[in-house]
Amino acid sequence: MEKKFIVANWKNHPDNLAEAEQILDFINEYLGQRNEKELSLVFCPPFVFLEEVGKILQISSLGNKAELGAQDISTDDFSAMTGEVSGLMLKKLGVKYVIVGHSERRWKLGESNETVNKKLKAVLRNDMMPVVCVGERTRDENYKEFLKEQVAATFAGLSADDIGKCFIAYEPVWAISTNPDARPDTPESAVESIKIIKEILIRNWKLEIACLPARQGNLPPFLYGGSVNSANVRSFLAENEIDGVLVGGASINKEEFLKILSIVQKLI
Ligand code: PGA
Repeated sequence: MEKKFIVANWKNHPDNLAEAEQILDFINEYLGQRNEKELSLVFCPPFVFLEEVGKILQISSLGNKAELGAQDISTDDFSAMTGEVSGLMLKKLGVKYVIVGHSERRWKLGESNETVNKKLKAVLRNDMMPVVCVGERTRDENYKEFLKEQVAATFAGLSADDIGKCFIAYEPVWAISTNPDARPDTPESAVESIKIIKEILIRNWKLEIACLPARQGNLPPFLYGGSVNSANVRSFLAENEIDGVLVGGASINKEEFLKILSIVQKLI
């Protein structure tokens, strides 16, 4: 089994730093002694905990296998932007990955493809790795067209090399656990969507598809996100096209997240 990536998107949780520390201590106790080179873990806490979480990762043995990620970035590095956090600031805190285009930002906060594209460029400009979320809002007869347009607009103006530096998370909006009636996608249909995304990248950017898994060509690694939990993580990661998972709700439930990690460890 190839290297697997787990990105924990804590969203606006937990409520306080003490709880964040508890989650990390709990995971550290389990993972700390293991030297699992094939497991790559990214914690994306809210901005207010980034610095502390970064310090904890550095001083605990989690630092060997976990990196720091942010959930958002300002489009701009220098100009005045009230309330925003720039790529320069994130980089100085030791952030290595930044989520852009998350569906909650696209659909609840009105972020356009154009804004996501600017944020994506801000991440790359500051030498961090973008975790770019794409996914249809509803699985209707137009979803493939929607996905193609969203991918083309999200990555517009990037070079093939830049795209190779990204992680792409396919997250169908209807599958995100906080949505009413959310249900996880099936691994088969997630793979179908990932293939559509790959096709457009290959066609528009002439990326190579050497062979599976994706990162053996110059295609980026692909993650699946949307109601991932300990009951379904194995089936998603059993697919060659899926290199990892983006976990939301289950990543702040420490027992559940530990179960996910232990299942993934048995797979690699
Ligand atoms: P979920 O969230 O795992 O709670 O569905 C995933 C995400 O929003 O990134």
